[in-house]
Amino acid sequence: MRSTIADARDEPAEPTGARRNQDLDSPETTIARAALLRRRAYLRRLYARWYRWIAARLPPVEGEVLEIGSGGGFIAEAIPGTITSDVSPLPGIDRVVDARRIPFADGGLRAVVATNAIHHLPDVAAFLEECSRCLAVGGRLVAIEPWPTAWSRIVYRRLHHEPFDEARDWTLPPGGPLTAANGALPWIVLVRDRAEFLRRFPRLRIVAIEPTMPVSYLACGGIGRAWRLPGWSFDLIRSLEAPFDRLGLFARIVLERTR
Ligand SMILES: C[S@@+](CC[C@H](N)C(=O)[O-])C[C@H]1O[C@@H](n2cnc3c(N)ncnc32)[C@H](O)[C@@H]1O
Repeated sequence: MRSTIADARDEPAEPTGARRNQDLDSPETTIARAALLRRRAYLRRLYARWYRWIAARLPPVEGEVLEIGSGGGFIAEAIPGTITSDVSPLPGIDRVVDARRIPFADGGLRAVVATNAIHHLPDVAAFLEECSRCLAVGGRLVAIEPWPTAWSRIVYRRLHHEPFDEARDWTLPPGGPLTAANGALPWIVLVRDRAEFLRRFPRLRIVAIEPTMPVSYLACGGIGRAWRLPGWSFDLIRSLEAPFDRLGLFARIVLERTR
């Protein structure tokens, strides 16, 4: 499967999001996004920043690192040895894994990592159960997910195609792997319903939730549009936005299995 993303790099660059009314759930959309991610210097640097942040939070315990919902990402280049996966077969991923049933032994994983994937999981409680089971003691779930802040609420409700419903329960509206989504889901579970989270997942400790990137993702149109911007402009925008991270569109999330 690995070769075809490289082949896809030669496809013409086309916007790959809802603006073109493409079928978001088709593998072709993810393959096109993978190619764009490798070709657009700005977006590539942004993802590389996410991956560096994840790498820095991996715990010092034995076991594999599994990425769920890898889509068109390139985490294994940044964190060698990471097992990439998605719910259906895609070029470039190592395994097909539905995050609701993680096919690893109890305590076998050093970390489960994800970018922009948890808010697409139709049964987030089943996923957290699996993290509780598969992570080694001291192992971590390290993720970057959409997050509600005073600024991001405006962006997600007015400019973004995905649902962002802070009043919903832990389920998703019906849809496929990309169309079913609630950008507010990680916040619902970890903040709004924290008492329920702590009751249901007593082995998972919330280590960090840090909002980040109020502007830089938006500035390039995101992975759905990925406008052509020079790579250096990401570093510039990132340094300018960093003091305003509390207004971020995303949160960097770390949970740890304690026992
Ligand atoms: C928005 S994409 C993110 C892709 C990539 N991680 C990135 O940051 O560009 C969400 C991914 O979650 C995957 N996904 C949806 N439901 C899933 C499930 N039940 N188990 C594992 N992955 C799932 C989708 O197939 C999709 O690739």
